[in-house]
Amino acid sequence: MAQAVLPAARVALSRPPAPFLKWVGGKRQLVPQILQALGPTHLGTYVEPFVGGGAIFFALAERNHIWRAVLSDTNDELMTAYLSVRDEVAHVIAALRSHRNDPDHFYAVREIDPATLSPAERAARLIFLNRTCFNGLYRVNAKGLFNVSFGRYVNPTICDAEGLEAASRALRHAELRTCDFAVALADARSMDVAYCDPPYVPLSATSSFTSYTRNRFASDDQVRLRDLALAAKQRGVRVVLSNSAAPIVRERYRDGFTCTEVLAPRAVNCRADRRRAITELLIA
Ligand SMILES: C[S@@+](CC[C@H](N)C(=O)[O-])C[C@H]1O[C@@H](n2cnc3c(N)ncnc32)[C@H](O)[C@@H]1O
Repeated sequence: MAQAVLPAARVALSRPPAPFLKWVGGKRQLVPQILQALGPTHLGTYVEPFVGGGAIFFALAERNHIWRAVLSDTNDELMTAYLSVRDEVAHVIAALRSHRNDPDHFYAVREIDPATLSPAERAARLIFLNRTCFNGLYRVNAKGLFNVSFGRYVNPTICDAEGLEAASRALRHAELRTCDFAVALADARSMDVAYCDPPYVPLSATSSFTSYTRNRFASDDQVRLRDLALAAKQRGVRVVLSNSAAPIVRERYRDGFTCTEVLAPRAVNCRADRRRAITELLIA
C-alpha cells in the first residue's frame, strides 16, 4: 500500500531581533569585529552599561549567544522604552499606531511632557520621534528636552510591529536598569562579559556628539570608566570597550589593554556628503 505523503511542515520563521531605534554611535557596522573581541558570552552575564540602540546586544541575541544580560544607560526615556517593549509590546504597538508622519503632529508630540504619559505611550512617543525626526537621531538640550526637528521623510515606518515583537522576545533575557555605568560595572563578576561603548573622547573641540542626556560625559568620566574597567578585568570580567582614536585614549589604555584600530562610518554630520569612515579603537 502506498504510504501517505505528509505535507511539508510549515515552519513559522519569526524575524530576528534587531535595534528598533536609530542611535548616534550605533555599532551595527562593527558587529563582526566587536563580537570577535567579546569571545564566548554564554558562560556568564552579558553586561552593556551604555546600551543606546543595543546593536551588539541584539546581534548576540540573534545568534543565541546570551542566556542572561544586564542592559543599562543613564537615558531614562530610552530605558523606559526598553522596559515597555519587553513587558507590554502590544500596548506599545497600539500606541504607535496612533501616530502619523505629519509636522504638526510631530511638534505636538515633541512638546508633550513624557512624565504625563503611560510607559507604553512614552515608549511609543520616543520610537515615533526617532523614526520621523531629522536624521533619526536622539538629542536633548541642556534642559533634557528632545530638540530634533521634523525629518520630512516620505514614508517612514512608524510602527514595525514584527520588529518590536522580535525585540521584545530578545529582551526577555535582559535585566534593564537606568543607572550610571559605574553601578552596572561594579556588579559584573568573574566569567561575565562587558561591552562598554561610552560617548567618545573628542578628536577635536567641535567633533564629538555627547548630547545623549542632559549630563555631558566629561574627561573625569572617561578616567573613571578606565579605572572601573581595569578593576572589573582584575575580578575576571572580560571587558571590551570602544572609543575614538584620540591619542589620550591610547595613552590611558596602554597598560593592561590592547587597542586595535577599526574603520567605522560614524561621523555625526547633517550633510550626507561629509559623512565618512573614520578610524576608532576597539580596546580589549
Ligand atoms: C555611543 S552611545 C552607545 C551606542 C550603542 N552601543 C548602540 O549600538 O547604539 C553612548 C550611550 O551612553 C549613554 N551614557 C552617557 N553617559 C552615561 C553614563 N554616565 N552612564 C551610562 N550611560 C551613559 C548615552 O545615553 C548613550 O546612549
